[in-house]
Amino acid sequence: MEFFLDTANLDQIREINDLGLLDGVTTNPTLMSREGGDWREQASLICDLVEGPVSLEVIGTTHEEMIKEAKDLVSFGPNVVVKIPMIPEGLMALKELTERGIKTNVTLVFSPTQALLAAKLGATYVSPFVGRLDGLSQSGMEGVEQMRTIFDNYGYSTKILVASVRHPLHVLDSGLIGADVVTLPYATIMQLMKHPLTDSGLAAFLADWEAFQQGK
Ligand code: E4P
Repeated sequence: MEFFLDTANLDQIREINDLGLLDGVTTNPTLMSREGGDWREQASLICDLVEGPVSLEVIGTTHEEMIKEAKDLVSFGPNVVVKIPMIPEGLMALKELTERGIKTNVTLVFSPTQALLAAKLGATYVSPFVGRLDGLSQSGMEGVEQMRTIFDNYGYSTKILVASVRHPLHVLDSGLIGADVVTLPYATIMQLMKHPLTDSGLAAFLADWEAFQQGK
């Protein structure tokens, strides 16, 4: 399973990269605006820092605007993936970007049939937002499971990128379902590493060793 970091923050990206866990980065207008400053400079720094794919999202809502922005976004680096919203105009843009060989990530996907349309039009990634669905008492992961079945039934190569992840159980379920990628907030990646029994076990080992050394 690939791990992407869902952030536009350079310190977080550096830290997870140093841990060897960074396969790529996803951003969105909210995450970009959180960092403040010049978004172009920020996007360029992220693309330089990250070896893997970096999703940068368009702001336009017509397919003409999206295509224009996509052409600009890909100039930030060879690893740019253009993030397109799952709306009819987005699908029109997706078709053209696929034909031009530009990598795409269809975002704001909330149903398996939306994912099917994106896969049919050649999206590189499709991003089901599981946490936001869970917040409405609908199972986000159930939709991901159905997407996996549909993509496998028809041999679509579109990767399922589980997004809007809220906790480690979303990662566990993604792994069990066979999702290709999870994009995680920094805090969730850190949570994945932690277990109280690891901490108490290590403390006990070190204390026993210290006592043994002092008894020599
Ligand atoms: C995905 O690419 C999005 O940036 C992100 O996962 C959205 O998650 P949120 O529901 O936490 O905003």
